[in-house]
Amino acid sequence: MNMDELKQSCHELSLPVTEKCNPISRDIDRVNGKQMVQILRKCDAEIFEKKNHDPFHQDPEESLIVLSGCGTSGRIAFLLVTSFNEMVKAPKQKQICSYIIAGGDRAMLTSQEAPEDDPALGARMLDKICAGKKHVLFVGISCGMSAPFVAGQLDFCLKHLDVFTPVLLGFNPVHMARSEPMQDCSFHFKDVAERMIAEQRHKKAFVLNPVLGAEAISGSSRMKGGSATKIILESILLAGHEAAFRGKRVTPECISAWITASEMVYETTYSHSDELAALIHQAGESLQMKAHVYYIGWQTLGIIGLTDASECVPTFGADFDDIRGFINNGFREMKNKEGDLSFLGPEFVIGHKDFVDTILPSLSQNDVMLFLFTVNDDLHEVTALADQVRRRTSNLHAIAHDLEKFTIPETVCNMFGTVLHITWSFSSEEVNSVVMRQRWELSTKWCLNAISTGAHVLKGKVYMNYMIDLRVTNSKLYRRAINILQRFTGCSKGECERALLRAIYSTDDLSEDMTSADVWKHTDVANRRDQVVPTALVMIQCGCTLAEARHHLDCHPVIRDAMVF
Ligand code: F6P
Repeated sequence: MNMDELKQSCHELSLPVTEKCNPISRDIDRVNGKQMVQILRKCDAEIFEKKNHDPFHQDPEESLIVLSGCGTSGRIAFLLVTSFNEMVKAPKQKQICSYIIAGGDRAMLTSQEAPEDDPALGARMLDKICAGKKHVLFVGISCGMSAPFVAGQLDFCLKHLDVFTPVLLGFNPVHMARSEPMQDCSFHFKDVAERMIAEQRHKKAFVLNPVLGAEAISGSSRMKGGSATKIILESILLAGHEAAFRGKRVTPECISAWITASEMVYETTYSHSDELAALIHQAGESLQMKAHVYYIGWQTLGIIGLTDASECVPTFGADFDDIRGFINNGFREMKNKEGDLSFLGPEFVIGHKDFVDTILPSLSQNDVMLFLFTVNDDLHEVTALADQVRRRTSNLHAIAHDLEKFTIPETVCNMFGTVLHITWSFSSEEVNSVVMRQRWELSTKWCLNAISTGAHVLKGKVYMNYMIDLRVTNSKLYRRAINILQRFTGCSKGECERALLRAIYSTDDLSEDMTSADVWKHTDVANRRDQVVPTALVMIQCGCTLAEARHHLDCHPVIRDAMVF
């Protein structure tokens, strides 16, 4: 190992697990679709490798359960709350579960990164929705154990333990929780996590933090982090439901059984690797031709599609219409707290009817159409829409789930080119319809994460397994940007930060005001700039000026090519 490699591996060791480079996917940018699926399969397998589930806390007396998070963590919170409320509606109980997403409901469809940095905002939002409640089970989700928004909420709970039972869900050991100062705050995330651990001894707070290995694309917690959040919290909520409404005793074994069922979903999904690889290829070709990928989903699979599509904007610097999701009945189907948001702009236009009215007339043969449905959806509606789409393009594919005893007719499947058709062996007697739906959601999430990630890799947006051209829109992403620069240049943190600031402030001569400003000022400016990390990287590697670095990037629009000096 030479000196540079040694420096890089020391740096890597110091990173929290969720920010590390996963050795499994190091070469994801050099393989074909089929090999890519195998890489993602191995990364996701790590979810099931270490089963150190913490003991379940049984307390059926809460009058409110709140799940909260930023970005994908908030979107998964929303999805879980939607299913859980549907489940408790059945025995005619009032809805007892609620969600918070940093930035409000608009963050479900667009990236709202700045509120993630605000601990006071998190606490205020929690206080507001819990007004008048006597018992609140609060689950703060932060995959990287890093979001100040969630830290502020946990701190608020810890100060009111008479009402709140706080739970922290994340995927780093507590000693790797973030320890940087937070905006207008005297404590940091790690302090809060340590206080949670102290309270855990008295069963007043709980920390659930299984370590799942690094993400397939470094730091992209929408992937494993999001899936594991869904698996763990679904298992807990289901256990709570069984205990509260069916009088069942919840044991660690039954929690394990639910986790094992998710592992079966994982195995089954990835056993369809040929179709998955074909869909990655189709989506990749389409993006390379500057065409589009449209997910047309029904019910919660529509939400999975919308979520996956909206994450491509911050993750890969994609345009909002590169990959877009649509759901039957639009916001009526979403049942989100703030209702119809379509007045906010084109990113919020999400109904099938909107698709037919605004996109279908100009759909091209290069655009990929991907239908997402199950045997429980209205198949007449599915075929009618597929028929309309077929009149414009044959580039029409599907992910379709059904049951051995209740299959989708062949005539429906025959309408699509590539069909990732999964016939599940669980019967409707064995699991209730909400649980079945949750498994289909998980399977679809794995497929869409693979398709959108794979397609952007094929487009050349990823170098090794790093998304270098990240938008530096909050303090976590600012730190990640510096880590990436250190990783690829072997230079000191100070040198990397200076180069990053030059790119952010668009200057070769940083003023005192610029260098002494706090990180939130930097991210505010960075939010309005393109390619800040690639520019900084080229400036360091080539020892060149800002203008020269920009020229180099203009000549190499594909990030992977631009990184060859
Ligand atoms: O700031 C953006 C982001 O990285 C999202 O991509 C991610 O989903 C969100 O933060 C939340 O991250 P965490 O769950 O680690 O707090």
